[in-house]
Order: sequence, then structure tokens, then C-alpha cells
Amino acid sequence: MKHFLDIDKTDSGDLRGIIDQARDMKAARAGRPKGAPDDVLPLAGHMVALIFEKPSTRTRVSFDVGVRQLGGQTMVLSGADMQLGHGETIADTARVLSRYVDLIMMRTFEQDTLLEMAEYATVPVINGLTNRTHPCQIMADVMTFEEHRGPIAGRKVVWSGDGNNVCASMVQAAGQFGFDFTFTGPAQLDPEAEFIGEARRKGVNISVERDARKAVAGADLVMTDTWVSMHDSQSSRERRHNMLRPYQVNAELMRHAKPDALFMHCLPAHRDEEATSEVMDGANSVVFDEAENRLHAQKAVMRWCLGL
Ligand code: CP
Ligand code: NVA
Repeated sequence: MKHFLDIDKTDSGDLRGIIDQARDMKAARAGRPKGAPDDVLPLAGHMVALIFEKPSTRTRVSFDVGVRQLGGQTMVLSGADMQLGHGETIADTARVLSRYVDLIMMRTFEQDTLLEMAEYATVPVINGLTNRTHPCQIMADVMTFEEHRGPIAGRKVVWSGDGNNVCASMVQAAGQFGFDFTFTGPAQLDPEAEFIGEARRKGVNISVERDARKAVAGADLVMTDTWVSMHDSQSSRERRHNMLRPYQVNAELMRHAKPDALFMHCLPAHRDEEATSEVMDGANSVVFDEAENRLHAQKAVMRWCLGL
């Protein structure tokens, strides 16, 4: 069973194959209406369940459109409307859904929920974001970097802000794709040591630098994300904002990176908090390419899961 649960759980050669296929599929349908099917329809006759226990715009729409472009059908399920939200176990839900659908994409809170779904499902399961990681986002981001700047291997990527789920998947990607990664943010919000240790064991440079300006020196890519994630309590908002303000990505900070450094944000953004509108809308920002590439990257992920 080929689940897509995390960047570090998928073979690096397979990850490379997924990115390459995504690029080719994107090129093959350039200029067509979004609702037009692809030339090849590997998901024809396939049903995909998209389960959301948290809000979503990009993940929801990009998976739904992607399945249709590949010839398949979708059903979008909200966790609260399922028996899952009313006491049915994850294991039983996984067994039941596997009788109806060929693939499950799930956005949930705890990583263990996703892992349990994968353990008991007899169809592939894709991680559509947990509190801990967001691998589909990072596949789109690697694809986006390479589209603009060529191979990401050996480049310097800097994350400024909260060491959250998206950051964690990027640390894992550093190990798998072979790029250097620097985290800059307050110590309380560092990425988990386990992520850093694992990437370092793969031989890449992972560093932590508290001074944001020093951190971005020589960066090819600067990334950030919201200061308060969906799983963070709203009561932590003010404390987080106070800690994270020195790590805002603004034009002044970007001047310390390479002149052609790209800026990425997975979106949704809180403009003029974690990043200024000047940077978000600036010439080196690729935030909407990232959003588009969710579609292409995930189509390739689904094909990989199903071996189609
Ligand atoms: N980046 C991302 O996953 O966006 P959504 O929460 O809108 O799906
Ligand atoms: N870190 C954010 C990402 C949203 C796509 C969150 O988990 O809310």
C-alpha cells in the first residue's frame, strides 16, 4: 500500500519522480480550461474521499479539481458531519470507507488520527495537513522553486517565523531533496528536534539562527506562514505575535537575502503580520504559483499512490 503520509516516509527517488511527473502534466495541459480532462485519465472509474476536519480552500479545491482532471470522481466530507465526529472509531471509518472509495485524502488534527486511518484502510491515504506536517504543500513548493530557479539541491532555504507543520515538512524535504535549511524564529517555536536530527542524518546542513537578518544572508528562498495555525489556541495569539514580530518577512529583511531570492507562503496569509503585502505582491513572490502547483503536484501524488 502506497500511502502518502509524510515527505520522510516516501523514498527520495519516488519524490523526485512525483515532481517530474507533476511538471510534465502541468505542461501537457497548459492553456486548457480548468474543467477540461487531461489527455490520459488514470483515475477513470475511481472514487476519492476528501475528508476535512479543519477549514480549507486550496487543499479542498485543488484535490477536487485534480481528481476530475484525471477522470475520477470525488466526495468531499466534513469530519463534523461524519459519524467519525460522533464517536465512531477511526479504524472502523477506515474499513468502511475502503469498501466505497479507492483513495482517501484526510485533513485532521492529530498525526495519530492520520496514521490510524492509514493502518486500517485498505486503500491509499494521503495527508492533507495535520498539526504536525503538510507534505502536499511542500511537494508543490519544491516544484515551484525548481520551475523558477532550477534544481533545489544545494540551495539555501530559510524559514522565518513559527516552526510549524509546514516548516516541519520543509525540514524533511531538505533531507530528501538535499538542500540547506535555516530556521529563524523564537526558541519556543523551534521545529521539533526530531525533524532537525533526522534531516541532519541525511547529510544536509540544518541550522538555527535567532537573528533573522543573519539567517537570510545568502538565501535562495525565504518562506514563512501564519503566526497562529488552525490547531493553536486563540488565547496564545497575543503571546505568539509578540514573539514572532521580529521575524516578519518584509522588504528590509528580504534585502539581506540574495537579490533574486524567492518568497513563499503556503497561504492563507495574514497580510502585514507574518509577511508584508509589499513582499507578498513583490516581483520575487511566487505565492500564487505555489497555490496552483498544489493541483499539479497532488495529481502526481495520487497517481503514485494508485500506481497509475
Ligand atoms: N495551503 C493550504 O493548505 O491551504 P488551505 O488551508 O486553504 O487548504
Ligand atoms: N500552519 C497552517 C497552515 C495552513 C495551510 C495551519 O496549520 O493552520
